[in-house]
Amino acid sequence: MKNKAPFINELALPIVTAPMFLISGPNLVIECCKNGIVGTFPALNQRSSEGFEEWLIEIKTTLKEFEDTTGKKAAPFGVNLIVHPTNPRLEADLKLCVKHKVPLIITSLGAVSQVVDAIHSYGGLVFHDIIKKRHAEKAAEAGVDGLILVAAGAGGHAGTINPMTLVAEIKKFYDKTIILSGCISTGRDVASALQMGADLAYMGTRFINTEESRATDEYRKMIVEAGASDVTYTASISGVHANFLSASLKAAGITEEDLKKDVKIDFGKELDTEAKAWKTIWSAGQGVALIDDIVPVSTLVENLKTEFKSSIEEQIKVLENFPK
Ligand SMILES: Cc1cc2nc3c(=O)[nH]c(=O)nc-3n(C[C@H](O)[C@H](O)[C@H](O)COP(=O)(O)O)c2cc1C
Repeated sequence: MKNKAPFINELALPIVTAPMFLISGPNLVIECCKNGIVGTFPALNQRSSEGFEEWLIEIKTTLKEFEDTTGKKAAPFGVNLIVHPTNPRLEADLKLCVKHKVPLIITSLGAVSQVVDAIHSYGGLVFHDIIKKRHAEKAAEAGVDGLILVAAGAGGHAGTINPMTLVAEIKKFYDKTIILSGCISTGRDVASALQMGADLAYMGTRFINTEESRATDEYRKMIVEAGASDVTYTASISGVHANFLSASLKAAGITEEDLKKDVKIDFGKELDTEAKAWKTIWSAGQGVALIDDIVPVSTLVENLKTEFKSSIEEQIKVLENFPK
């Protein structure tokens, strides 16, 4: 376990709930941490740095109360920061993360050593998300503590590489924490991520369909009804390739012709900002195929534990029956 995130062995399951634009807020984060898995949210889910600090205080205070009253340890929580010149709040939000000693920072787009140094100054950890080897090498150079490998079929800005290949390719040169992202919806999937060589599973879409997420009922219902081929990978919405529920693209009047162009659509005034677009056009990964309920986080974690355990027991049986 040398070089691996120290909290891994303290979790109820090796899961980080992924930060999701418009979807994750304090309720989801708090419930995840209380149930022993890492909860995270994007700083930009709050409109201002002041609002972001209020959320940090709410999460820290509630988890402290939980620990004091139950004697149990809550899992660490994390914040997603977009490290890019287009994010005018980066400096202010980073200062707040340092002030409140946020245990885990997830950086997207840029991995820079200044951010890593700031978080390391109080003992925090930085995980960075990547979709290919070149980005992973750069992030490793910047000194991040873990790499989130976003494989094909993931919700949000997904990659295109098969998870088995991506994990194996990155593990050749990176020995710190490996977190696998993309289509992990069940406890069996979590066990499979470990089998591939990951240390932690990163789960987004599955957690949209929890009672504590900020998604609308219509969004969650569309996820229940969707199969893997009901998800469209397109750059038409944000200019960068991401996965969206095809039914929500259709409902927003986006045609096959628009999608074929694969460049950002000019939505005009109606959906002029990315936030407005993502409110109407719903992102989800191909893992929707295995999601058929909307449950509280506590129930989901219990189900994941049962599935995780039984799938590992199946593997042990295979080994036991193997000719010696
Ligand atoms: C609705 C939605 C919003 C997302 N927003 C963000 C975000 O703001 N920042 C980020 O780093 N990743 C974001 N992601 C990607 C997730 O963090 C994660 O990589 C992905 O959900 C994992 O794949 P899965 O959805 O198949 O589990 C988003 C994903 C979804 C589905």
